Amino acid sequence: MDDFIFPPFVSLIPQTALIAVLGTLFSAAAHIAVGAWFMLYLEERRAQNEEDLELSSWLERSSKKLLSLALVFGVPAGLLLWFTFIVTSPLSVSYLTSNFMWVGCMFWAFLVLYVLAMLVHANAWRSASPKTHRRICLTCAVGAWICLFFINGIITFQLTPSKIREPINLFKAFFNHTSFPGLLLRTSFAVWIASLLFLFLLSFEKEGNLKKSLARRLSRQSIYAIALIPSAAVWYGFQTSKMSLENFSRISYLQGLMFSALLLFLVAISLTFFLSVLFPQLFKPLSAAVPLAFAIVAVGFCELTREDLRLPYSIRGAVYANDIDVKKCKTYQDSGFIKQARFLSLGGAPPPGDTVKGKLLFAKLCSPCHAIGGPGGLENVFSRIDEKFAFSLVRKSTFMKSPMPPFPGGDEEAALISGHILSSVDKSGPFARGRDIFAVRCGPCHDWERGYRTLRRRFRGADAKTVDDTLGDLRSITESMPEWTGTDEERKALSEWISSQAGSGAPR
Ligand code: HEC
Ligand code: HEC
Repeated sequence: MDDFIFPPFVSLIPQTALIAVLGTLFSAAAHIAVGAWFMLYLEERRAQNEEDLELSSWLERSSKKLLSLALVFGVPAGLLLWFTFIVTSPLSVSYLTSNFMWVGCMFWAFLVLYVLAMLVHANAWRSASPKTHRRICLTCAVGAWICLFFINGIITFQLTPSKIREPINLFKAFFNHTSFPGLLLRTSFAVWIASLLFLFLLSFEKEGNLKKSLARRLSRQSIYAIALIPSAAVWYGFQTSKMSLENFSRISYLQGLMFSALLLFLVAISLTFFLSVLFPQLFKPLSAAVPLAFAIVAVGFCELTREDLRLPYSIRGAVYANDIDVKKCKTYQDSGFIKQARFLSLGGAPPPGDTVKGKLLFAKLCSPCHAIGGPGGLENVFSRIDEKFAFSLVRKSTFMKSPMPPFPGGDEEAALISGHILSSVDKSGPFARGRDIFAVRCGPCHDWERGYRTLRRRFRGADAKTVDDTLGDLRSITESMPEWTGTDEERKALSEWISSQAGSGAPR
């Protein structure tokens, strides 16, 4: 199964960006769905008890808006995301659907219940008795939360499976280490984002009692929900394995991603408080949209962080993030990936000089996590290095400091992939400054001073000549390192930079 892809499709879409955008939108829609009906229920009960017709009419209008939002936006985003998963990660999808079949069935059953209840609720404001109508609303809320409960078990299993080898114990797999903290975190997110959405809808109302009192209640609820988030997040962190947490130091942007999420959270929280409690006169659609947008992006960043903690796996221990079977990876390394990958031999032998194979291999093995151009793309490294080094870097990508899947192939695959990358970048020629040369030639596998596989202490006290000798003989240190293939100028600049930065004293 892992040699199966739809090559034209996969190579056309930038997978990383697509999944990030779709995932964020869908995650927002799904969390809103869970929180909104719960809050609608509370408000509907209050409106009925207090016989507050103004509130009741506002709730009716809002519930219809929610329904359109779910149908026009949530359902298509969910379907598109699911379709993208099937096309890009058929192995992961089949592993999860076969091992969690019963969970999946329950999910669909409750999803159908939720959608039906939602349709009835929106259309029965006048025909059903108040009590029945309220109960239908509660059914929506419970149905949506149970869907979240089932999905959360599967998502958390991907990060912290109880046991890797099949057959898995369904109970233990579902109630894995991060399942309860994950559920608490998602429930708090759900109530928080939903209250921000309601605040946004409320901001269109004319000034008056309803707007004022409801805004206070909604912002109070949002603050209760937010208060739970830090403890749930810390609990989640403690339940995650040390190896996953190491990714914070192995992926350059990951700490930044998490801190940006934190910053967005803080801004969204303060703005909500500011608008709905301190300065209600400023509470207008435009200003209410800002905290909502920030909250959606913040939750999206949290989802991306969770996905990156999982690297190099899509399902820890079972499937790599490029949809390669962990058990088969060794076979690919020994006998090559090309021979096993049916999609590469469709249409017979390629003409000489054909670059399609390289493109397809890249699409399958690297594009789930990398684009070539754009910010953070591989171009940054590959436009500055020679052909031989590009080949070695791909061939030895197993040894990079980043949590990447082992390279599932041999020389032939590496040559095709590096050829494809090089043919797609604009060559800029080598860097002149030593530290930039270090970044592209050593940086993929080593940090300098702090972090992963650091080198500073190893070079302490070395003069440029000693460093130069080491550069000439890297392969004698370990076969896992590419040999020096840069120009003499680069070598000189790098040696001088290393010796100038290494400080004095004896090497470690
Ligand atoms: C499972 C995801 C994943 C896959 C698949 C993957 N990589 Fe990576 N790769 C990463 C991550 C994460 C980083 C670290 C990026 C960072 O720290 O900014 C990285 C870093 C790199 C770097 C270093 C970039 C730099 O700026 O230092 C190179 C080169 C690279 N990968 C090449 C490849 C090649 C070639 C393939 C395909 C054979 C591949 N990767 C497949 C996740 C992946
Ligand atoms: C493809 C990955 C890769 C690249 C690129 C790479 N190295 Fe390494 N390097 C390794 C690995 C793997 C080791 C072995 C680490 C170990 O055994 O703990 C290593 C070890 C070393 C060591 C020995 C460290 C020690 O503690 O004894 C030195 C020195 C070194 N590398 C220097 C360099 C320099 C300088 C560059 C850039 C010109 C470079 N490496 C590029 C992967 C790489």
